[in-house]
Amino acid sequence: MASQPCRIIVVVGATGAQGGAVIDTLLNSPPSVPIRIRGLTRYVSSPASQALISRGVEMVAAKGSLTDDTSALTHAFKGAWAIFAVTDIWEQFSRNPCDASDAREKEEQYGCMLATQASYVDTLEHFIWSTEPNSQRLSGGKHIVQHFDGKSKVDDHIRACHSKSVSHRSKSLFHLITFLWVGFYAKNLQHLPMWKPLFNIGTESGKYSVNVPVDPETRFVSLGSLRNVGLAVAAVLAGEGSKSLRCEMCTTSRHQARYIAVNNGFFSLREYYEAWAAVVLKSSCNGTGIETLHQNDDAHLEPEDASLSQEQTAPANIEVRQIDAAEYEQLYGGFGREMRTMLEFWRDMGEQGSWRVSYAKSLDDEAEEDDGGASDCDCVVLSLQDVLAAKGQQVLDLKESFRELA
Ligand SMILES: NC(=O)c1ccc[n+]([C@@H]2O[C@H](COP(=O)([O-])OP(=O)(O)OC[C@H]3O[C@@H](n4cnc5c(N)ncnc54)[C@H](OP(=O)(O)O)[C@@H]3O)[C@@H](O)[C@H]2O)c1
Repeated sequence: MASQPCRIIVVVGATGAQGGAVIDTLLNSPPSVPIRIRGLTRYVSSPASQALISRGVEMVAAKGSLTDDTSALTHAFKGAWAIFAVTDIWEQFSRNPCDASDAREKEEQYGCMLATQASYVDTLEHFIWSTEPNSQRLSGGKHIVQHFDGKSKVDDHIRACHSKSVSHRSKSLFHLITFLWVGFYAKNLQHLPMWKPLFNIGTESGKYSVNVPVDPETRFVSLGSLRNVGLAVAAVLAGEGSKSLRCEMCTTSRHQARYIAVNNGFFSLREYYEAWAAVVLKSSCNGTGIETLHQNDDAHLEPEDASLSQEQTAPANIEVRQIDAAEYEQLYGGFGREMRTMLEFWRDMGEQGSWRVSYAKSLDDEAEEDDGGASDCDCVVLSLQDVLAAKGQQVLDLKESFRELA
C-alpha cells in the first residue's frame, strides 16, 4: 500500500510563544496524517532553533521583517500544505519606543509579504494568520493600538488580493484563510514589568500589587495559556470549524472567511489578577512557583521574609491599583503607552465592540466602516469554544492557564 504523502506545515515565528505552542501541540498530538514541521527563524544556530531541530523540526533561515528578501520565503514555503504565521512587533518597537507607528508599519509590511508569498504556493490548503481587530476603525479613530492595527491591515491586504484581480501566478488566500484573534497571554504576568505583580510595593505589607492605568473593572479578552493557540491551529488543520461550520453559518452563497476568537473569556483586570493570585500565590505558599515569579525582579521582600502564611490565600493578597495614566507612562515608557491605549480601547469598546471584524469601505478607501455582523459581510466569527467542542476538546481556562505559571 502506498504511504500517504507528508504534509508540510510551516510555522512562522517558530521560536516564539505562539509558534512554539503550535509546534508543541502538533508534536505532542500528531494529526492522523504524516506531517513535517518547518520553522522559520532569523537565527538557525540560536539555542531556541537548535532545540526545535533536536525535536525533529526543520529550521529554515529567513531574515524576517528587516529585509524584503522574498526568495528566502519562497524557499521556506515551498511545498507547504499549511502555514501558521505570526509577526512580532515588539523587537522592532524596542528600537524606538517613542514611536510605535514605525514598528507597526514594518510589522504590516512583513505580514503582507508573508501573505503574498503564501499566495504563490500552489500546494497550500491552509493559511492561518494570527491577528487582532482594527482598533482605529472600531473606535472611530479615537484609539490606535499599534500592535493591533498593523496585523489587521494584513487582513485587509488578504481581502484586497481576493477582491481585486490577483496576479496570474497567485491564488486567493481568502479561500484558505483562518484569522485567529489571539487574546492576552497569561504568561504576560510572569515576565512583563507592567503586568507582573510585585510584592509589597506601594501597598500595605503582605500583598502583591500591580499598577493599571484604567479602572480595575475594565474588561479584556484573555487567551490564558498559549496552548489555546496550539489547540486552535490543530483544530483548523483537522478540519474543525471548516467547511461544515462555514456552510451552516453561511447566509449567502458568497465565500466566507473564518475568524476564530482564540480566548478563554472576557475578564475584568481585578478578576484576572484574583484568579492569578488564587492559583499562583497558593502554590507559592507551598514553596513552588514564587521563586520563578520573582527571578531577577526588584520586589522588596522575598516571599520567605514576607511570611505569607498558608492560610492567607488569594484574592486577599493581590491589589489591582489604578494609577494616573501619566504616572503609568512614566513608569513603563513607550510600552506602557501602548498597553494603556489597548486598555482604554477595551474599556470604551467593551466585549462586543472591541472584537469585531471591520473593513475599510472600499479597498482603496481608508474611510471607516464597520461591517462586522452586517448581512453582506464576507466572514464568520467562531468562538474557540465551539471549534474545540466539535473535536470533543475544551479551551484551557484561567485556572489551568495560571497553573502553568505556578
Ligand atoms: N503578549 C500577548 O498577550 C499577545 C497577545 C496576542 C498577540 N500578541 C502578539 O504576538 C506577537 C509576538 O508573537 P509571540 O509572542 O509568539 O513572539 P515571541 O515569543 O516574542 O517571539 C518572537 C518571534 O518572532 C520572531 N521575530 C522577532 N522579530 C522578527 C523579525 N523582525 N522578523 C522575523 N521574525 C521575527 C522570532 O524569531 P527568531 O528570533 O527566531 O528569528 C520569534 O520566533 C506580537 O506581535 C504581539 O502583538 C501578543
